[in-house]
Amino acid sequence: GHGASHVFVILGASGDLAKKKIYPTLWWLFRDGLLPPKTHFIGYARSNLTLEEVKKSCLPHMKAVAGEEGKLKEFFKLNEYVAGSYDKTEDFQKLNKAIEQRGSCNRLFYLALPPSVFETVTLNIKALCMAKGDKWTRIVVEKPFGRDLESSNQLSRHLAALFKEEELYRIDHYLGKEMVQNLMVLRFGNRIFSPIWNRENVASIVISFKEPFGTQGRGGYFDEFGILRDVMQNHLLQILTLVAMEKPPSTSSEDIRNEKVKVLRSIPCPSMDNVVLGQYVGNPHGDNETRMGYLDDTTVPKGSVTPTFATVVLYVKNERWDGVPFILRCGKALNERKAEVRVQFKDVAGDIFPAGEVKRNELVIRVQPSEAIYMKMMAKTPGMSINCEESELDLTYGSRYRDVKMPDAYERLLLDVFMGSQIHFVRSDELFEAWRIFTPLLHYIEKEKPKPIEYTYGSRGPTESDQLMTRTGFSYTGSY
Ligand code: BG6
Repeated sequence: GHGASHVFVILGASGDLAKKKIYPTLWWLFRDGLLPPKTHFIGYARSNLTLEEVKKSCLPHMKAVAGEEGKLKEFFKLNEYVAGSYDKTEDFQKLNKAIEQRGSCNRLFYLALPPSVFETVTLNIKALCMAKGDKWTRIVVEKPFGRDLESSNQLSRHLAALFKEEELYRIDHYLGKEMVQNLMVLRFGNRIFSPIWNRENVASIVISFKEPFGTQGRGGYFDEFGILRDVMQNHLLQILTLVAMEKPPSTSSEDIRNEKVKVLRSIPCPSMDNVVLGQYVGNPHGDNETRMGYLDDTTVPKGSVTPTFATVVLYVKNERWDGVPFILRCGKALNERKAEVRVQFKDVAGDIFPAGEVKRNELVIRVQPSEAIYMKMMAKTPGMSINCEESELDLTYGSRYRDVKMPDAYERLLLDVFMGSQIHFVRSDELFEAWRIFTPLLHYIEKEKPKPIEYTYGSRGPTESDQLMTRTGFSYTGSY
């Protein structure tokens, strides 16, 4: 018939996330023929907009190229916009009517909404918009999932009272990245790594996230959360679990997430001696953007001590990892854009080469930019020389897989929601543990307001971070 098989509802359709990420992602999936046939889309938000206006605001982010006009038209033909409030029964009845117009279908609700309306919207979905009969409903939510253990638990209880865990898809978009997904294959699909992936052989593991820009006008939002909640408690900790977990009995989402949760449960809260917090100040020699420090952003409250940079050393107290520092490091307004995992191995035992010549092996998984896996290793300097030098076994995706188009994280994740795969989504017990680990530190910062260390926009961040890394077991090789 003419009905839809799936209806994807974007709540908050007029917002930033919807126009920059969700609509473009749905368009790319549609364009590439990846969505189930007969998928329709409904945007919902308070503003009285026409579909034409929604289209206009998304279009700049959709990257449609010449030749795609027809397809794009087709896409928007499957779209509709419904205006309504986030708390009125009548409005959700109207939304439900609009969905029912498309016949009996599976329903996906993407909540691109501020946390303040989360509760009323989910209550209304549950009361008025759930699929009937043999059709399913899935709810996609994104951070912030609360701001500490207690508020997150409250939200979890609220959602658990309304939906089954199988219906809830908590997005951490880092789990949609190629190299993050690759960690499982790298670790469990190779014989060679498994015997050295432990405290006997690993000196330290550094998981870093660097961005070369500041708050970019999002200072108001950012200041309420800070870098620990914005990046570390979610993205970096998720990577840590994939690096540290035991091999799951299978690749099913429950088996994998059971192992991830075990790792988190083995991590004690960090001690303050193992934390460095920073906040960027303007670079007096910079351009208009980089001359602005965090506190110069007019949307940031005066005198804010919110960290824009943090290094935190965590330990996984289990048989495999006891004593190995997991160094999580993230910051805004740094010298480059980079996210990577660096597994540094211990020194060679009984080194026979001249002192200082042999450097530690490192396995680096570069998440972005330019996905790569490379192993830093020693080799004889080629030619007549008898010295050793550091070299690399290098799997850079751009050169090895030249013709593969790397999908955006959101493309994979939204497709997973359609397919019902929860592997790359955060389960409620993972979320609980993630907050448990960071809440004492977050509360300490809120209460004691320790002044973050200043670092200049465009720099490598506070040198205290390097000192902490060295003290806990990372050995600097070269300029890293
Ligand atoms: C988001 C944070 O979750 O991740 C942003 O809120 C950050 O502050 C972004 O910029 C980084 O994502 P990506 O995919 O660009 O590395």
